[in-house]
Amino acid sequence: MSPADRAAAAFKASFGVQPAGTVFAPGRVNLIGEHVDYNEGLVLPMPVRHGTAVAWGPGSDGLAHVVADDFGESDRFSLAAPGKPSDIDWRAYARGMVALAPTRPEAGVCLTIAGDLPRGSGLSSSASLCVALGRALASAAGTHVDPTALALAAQRTEHEYAGVACGIMDQMAVAAGEPGHAMLLDCRDLSYRLIPLPRDWAVLTVDSGVTRGLVDGEYNERRAQCAEAAHLLGVASLRDVEPAEFDPSALPEPIGRRAAHVIAEIARVRQAAAALETADLSSFAAILRQGHASLRDLFEVSVPQVDALVDGLQGELGKRGGVRMTGAGFGGSVVVVAQQGAARQIGERLASRAQAVYGMDEA
Ligand code: GLA
Repeated sequence: MSPADRAAAAFKASFGVQPAGTVFAPGRVNLIGEHVDYNEGLVLPMPVRHGTAVAWGPGSDGLAHVVADDFGESDRFSLAAPGKPSDIDWRAYARGMVALAPTRPEAGVCLTIAGDLPRGSGLSSSASLCVALGRALASAAGTHVDPTALALAAQRTEHEYAGVACGIMDQMAVAAGEPGHAMLLDCRDLSYRLIPLPRDWAVLTVDSGVTRGLVDGEYNERRAQCAEAAHLLGVASLRDVEPAEFDPSALPEPIGRRAAHVIAEIARVRQAAAALETADLSSFAAILRQGHASLRDLFEVSVPQVDALVDGLQGELGKRGGVRMTGAGFGGSVVVVAQQGAARQIGERLASRAQAVYGMDEA
């Protein structure tokens, strides 16, 4: 059953009536531009096929009644004062979005949630959850919501309700992305351009099987190191540093290596967008390989199992595509961008661990 069908069935089972509507938000995979969004850099994510559905219906008691079908759990709280749970689980996101969403119904609302993104796999299940909730709240209020405003509310929810000082990439890709298109997003002003993938390319994700642990603390530490680097270099953000002018030895370690990654990674995103627009797969693949090496050696957010998976898949692909870790790191998924036949081979061989994102319909 699709998440939308499951959410609708859970609604009927929980509230005794059919939902008034069902909304969906995908997860995202980042093609290139890792750990640069919070440095006001450029990123190149795209939505995946899997995601989160929320079925919604009206209420009249001033409360939000929320059921998480994936966990068999529920929550009930005041729409006017949702409160902040001390445990960070799906309830923290639900309450955060009710508190911060651009629009919400006043009289009451019933919501059921069902998703099919593996949690901890680096495909942004939390951004998908937040954006789906925001869409459901807007529908229940009878309004439309601007995708950028929705993305910003979802990001604030991560910051204020989940304690993760994330950037804006995931939420923008989920709220404003389009299937089959990469989003060249400027995280400084949130302007973006959607670039269609060439017809003979394919994108797939492969789960490393390493569930991300301790990632929030490591993530916040990397973010603080980047801010420190910008401060020491006398710039507002690392986006302002030209690669040719950067001297990593001017900074203490490991801050110099962190900054070196960010500055070169922003340049890689520009090159990757150009390669995408000219359907130059061999240049695009080379950029993915450089990006992975930089995350492994300079930013130090990969783990040996992920490196081994990347190396193995790259060996299998040869010149037919590129592969790298994707997302915050410390486990999760890798992304493969390849010729369709090569991607299909990998998809068939890895079956349940591989998820088609684009260009593998025939698989
Ligand atoms: C997580 C964050 C994003 C981004 C990536 C790394 O997905 O939520 O904002 O920083 O890590 O690129």
